[in-house]
This record gives sequence, structure tokens and C-alpha cells, in this order.
Amino acid sequence: MKNILITGGAGFIGANFVRYLLKAEPEARIYNLDALTYAGSLENLHDLPDPARHSFIQGDICDAELVGRLMTEHAIDTVIHFAAESHVDRSIHGPGAFVQTNVIGTFTLLEAARAAWAGEPSGRRFHHVSTDEVFGSLAPNDPAFIESTPYDPRSPYSASKAASDHLVRAYYHTYGLPVSITNCSNNYGPFQFPEKLIPLMVLNATLGKPLPIYGDGKQIRDWLYVEDHCEAIYLVVKNGKVGETYNVGGGNQPYNIDLVREICSILDELRPDGAPHTRLMTHVPDRPGHDRRYDMDITKIRAELGWVPRHDIESGLRATVEWYLENQDWVKSVLGDEGYTAWLEKNYAKR
Ligand code: NAD
Ligand code: DAU
Repeated sequence: MKNILITGGAGFIGANFVRYLLKAEPEARIYNLDALTYAGSLENLHDLPDPARHSFIQGDICDAELVGRLMTEHAIDTVIHFAAESHVDRSIHGPGAFVQTNVIGTFTLLEAARAAWAGEPSGRRFHHVSTDEVFGSLAPNDPAFIESTPYDPRSPYSASKAASDHLVRAYYHTYGLPVSITNCSNNYGPFQFPEKLIPLMVLNATLGKPLPIYGDGKQIRDWLYVEDHCEAIYLVVKNGKVGETYNVGGGNQPYNIDLVREICSILDELRPDGAPHTRLMTHVPDRPGHDRRYDMDITKIRAELGWVPRHDIESGLRATVEWYLENQDWVKSVLGDEGYTAWLEKNYAKR
């Protein structure tokens, strides 16, 4: 791992990973390719631990000429691919961008790696960051997802991620490209764009705005603190087997509605003037095709690589709420002007 191309490194998990990697690999050089869509921001890359080893390139992963040039000019030996359209609700309103970036973008990167590495896999790795949503939705007593659970994506987002996972595996079997994949559950932590559940609830609660709970709020996600996800990816890239997939999850599975209550109770303590924040909780019509429950079985990554989550949901959630309260300037800067308001209008006002 010397010259690393990170895609989507100005987004939530990518930016956390850039920080993690600069510390974990003191010799590595990072080339961070990101289109800076609404979800990406250079504000996420302030105060990096060793900025001289990080170069930012604004560009699209679907740009074959650019991606091919980066691979050869910088003698890239490792690709860690985060870039994606990542929000399920946006995929329902506009699936086209998801097929473009998640499918065509991944294909473009795979082609560039295949050409640059030309059948010489030794010392190289193409790591694809994927999601538990490719496995579909669990009923209450179903066992957790394992790596061989059949794919059953149910939203345009998860279908586009499933397609990209299939392409990555096809390049391993067909061309011998040295790939690995992690499928991870819901992340939370610093730098997450406030369209996702946790930062949206914190932001709305501090503004005294309604906290929109989709449907009955009894959906279940398997929450993982983002730094734990970064460590899992790092271990898989370093020591995971080529051609393999690893499930990553947090083992924290509250109902959405209970998670929001917990956020309210942390805010009651930290911002007592708005208490009780639960008064803002509002049921709104459900997300179409809403997956009911996710649960990841992490036996494989624990047994092979010794990875387990280090953060529990109580301390991780508190640290996250505190981070958002302390970083109001960041919140203001990433929201932009009209884009975020237009999104709220589209997804919530017309619900
Ligand atoms: P994010 O939306 O916060 O960031 C995505 C980044 O990709 C942004 O910086 C954006 O500018 C960039 N990007 C989008 N389209 C691009 C393009 N065409 N070319 C170059 N850059 C582009 O997403 P995230 O939550 O950080 O997720 C990162 C990855 O992890 C995604 O692949 C996602 O599917 C996966 N994942 C996310 C979670 C989660 O809970 N957030 C869980 C499991 C897996
Ligand atoms: O499971 C991994 C996935 O987690 C990632 O692959 C996705 O990129 C990431 O966005 C996330 O998807 P979810 O759809 O689970 O995350 P989101 O934060 O959008 O929603 C979490 C849950 O909260 C979900 O059941 C929907 C619900 N929800 C969400 C929002 C934004 C609400 O009830 N109200 C809301 O306003």
C-alpha cells in the first residue's frame, strides 16, 4: 500500500477513512478523487493529520480518461472505492444518478485498474466499499445476513450497489483483478451529511423543527460508528483474502423510534432549553419499499482478521450528537443555500 487512490474521499466515510489511513500508514500517499456532489465537501478534509501526503483531485469516477491517467501517473497500487450516490430516499426520487455513478462509475474504475495492472495482481488491491442493503430486508426472526446470503436489493440505491458488487466479483473471476469487498451496515459519526437519520434528527431538534419518523418507526438498522468501519476496511485491504467479501456490522439494533428518543434524551441534557425534544417527533408516511430490518453476522471478519467494533451505541451516539452541536459552522457550510431546502421540500413537505 504505497500509492492509494481513494474515490469519494470528501464524503462522510471517505473523509473519515482518509484521516484514519494517514495515521495508520505513515508512508502512504493518498490521491483522493471526488466530484464534490452535494454530499462531498472540502470542509470534511480540514486539519488532516499529515496533509502533505494527501492530494485532492476534483473529478468524476465516470471520466475514463481522468481515472486512467491517475492510475498510471501516480503508479496506483491500491484503489479504495467509496464514491457513490448513497441516500436511499434520493434514489427513489431520481434513480438515474445512482445507476450512473454506482454502476457505470464502478465499471469505469474496474476498467482503469485492469488496464493499469495488466494481469499483474501482485501487491495490488481494488477494494470496493458496499452495503448490507444488497441482501434485502429481514423478518423479525430471520437469521442475520452472512456473506453468502442471496442478494435481494429492493431500492434503486441498493440495486445499483448490488450491480456494482457483481461487476467487482466478475472482474476477479474473469480477469484475475485482485479485488475485495466489504458490505457494511449503517454508519454514524462526524461529517455525515444531514440528510441521513441521525444528523437530520440532531439538526432539526436544535432548530425546533419536526423529527420525521417514517411509518411506525419500528424499522431496525445495525448501527456502526464510522471509525470502526474504517478499521474494518483497512484490515481487509491489508490482510483480507483476494476475491473475498467480508460482512461488517455494529451489533446495535434499536428500533428507529427508540434511537430518535435516545437522541432527544441526549439533547435534553445538552440543550435543556429545548426539552423535551421528543415533543418534536412526528410520524410521516413511510418510505416506499422500506426495508424492515438489517442485521450483519460478522463471524468471518472476526475469525479471519480479528475485527470487532470498538464503540458501543451509547458512547458513539453521545460523541456524535456533541460533534454536531460543536460544529455548527461545518453544518452551515455543507448545507449550501437552495439545494438542501429544495431536498427537504421534495422529500418531506410533499410526503
Ligand atoms: P456520501 O454520500 O457521504 O459520500 C459520497 C461521496 O462520493 C461524496 O463525497 C461525493 O461527492 C462523491 N461522489 C458521488 N458521485 C461521484 C462521482 N460520480 N465521482 C466522484 N465522486 C463522487 O457517502 P458515504 O455515506 O460516505 O458512503 C460511502 C460509501 O460507503 C458508499 O459507496 C456507500 O454505498 C457505502 N456505505 C455507506 C454506509 C453508510 O451508512 N453511510 C454504509 C455502508 C456502505
Ligand atoms: O445499511 C447501510 C446503508 O445505511 C447505507 O448503504 C446507505 O448509504 C445509508 O444511507 C444508510 O441507509 P438507510 O436508508 O438505512 O439510512 P437513513 O439514515 O436514510 O435511514 C435510516 C432509517 O431511518 C431508515 O429506516 C429510514 C429512517 N428514516 C430516515 C430519515 C432520513 C426516518 O424514519 N426518517 C428520516 O427522515
